[in-house]
Amino acid sequence: MSANRPALVRANDSDPTLADDADEILRGLSAPQKRLSPKYFYDETGSRLFDEICTLPEYYPTRTERAIMDAYLGEMAALTGPRAAVIEFGSGSSQKIRQLLEGLDDPVAYIPVDISEDYLSSMANAVARDYPQLQVLPVFADFTRPFELPTYTQAPARNLVFFPGSTIGNFERADAASLLDVMRIEAGLGGALLIGVDRKKDPAILHAAYNDASGVTAAFNLNVLRRLNNELGARFDLTTFRHEAIYDEAQGRIEMRLVSCIAQRVAIAGHRLEFRAGEHIVTEYSHKYADDEFAALATSAGWQPERVWHDDAGLFGVHFLTVAD
Ligand code: TRP
Repeated sequence: MSANRPALVRANDSDPTLADDADEILRGLSAPQKRLSPKYFYDETGSRLFDEICTLPEYYPTRTERAIMDAYLGEMAALTGPRAAVIEFGSGSSQKIRQLLEGLDDPVAYIPVDISEDYLSSMANAVARDYPQLQVLPVFADFTRPFELPTYTQAPARNLVFFPGSTIGNFERADAASLLDVMRIEAGLGGALLIGVDRKKDPAILHAAYNDASGVTAAFNLNVLRRLNNELGARFDLTTFRHEAIYDEAQGRIEMRLVSCIAQRVAIAGHRLEFRAGEHIVTEYSHKYADDEFAALATSAGWQPERVWHDDAGLFGVHFLTVAD
């Protein structure tokens, strides 16, 4: 075992299985419009499938965001300044963080925050191995609620919250505002935020991105039912559900669904769910924001917009904001 292996900080007691969230899950699935929170996608399989989505030809956000970061990393580093502690919300595969860490001026700490514990610790170990100067302090937490930051051994000049991938778009507007609020609290006085936000665009481009030809997004979506079966003893027959993603122009968002192909009853944790043929569960939204729309949302959560960078085609935006005083 490496001496540099980071210790895992448990910021809350949440169990990594779905059983703890049974009430919340059942409430969502029993509502007139059935719903499942997207946070349940990310077990190990889900996280792997998600990484695969990011490499799909139709899925432009990941590579576009990377290209923006490549092109403007110097400006991002200059705005951030030296000796930042980078707090990544939902660290996933921690690939994007490497690009940022290498561009920043002498970052002192990396704090990945994630609810997928296995993923979190293996990724934190890999980053710690590759960046021996850096304090890597993983936090196992549901980042939608405030959590306690670990103690740094070397004080940073400022906290920089990093939230790439337009994950903010996966929250409904009110929840996005409260998440931005949590980020401001965690960033603290003098803190900053670097956040990737997918922009509004031609719906055909959006539709292709969320309905890929190879069916990886479908597998990712259906995986959540497999999790309910494995971790909550539900009895979903995965062959009777199909993936669907539509763009709701009025709401400015992609809506990802699991559609029941037949009328059926499904047993789950001592309850029974009724599905009509064609009835769907909403599994995820992906909101698309014009720059000023996002800036207004962030401002309402106490952030001061400072800068936004785009790719040449204007598909994606990376915003830099500071904690307003
Ligand atoms: N936040 C990104 C988006 O909405 C990535 C993402 C999250 C995603 N869940 C997804 C992409 C499900 C495809 C399918 O695009």
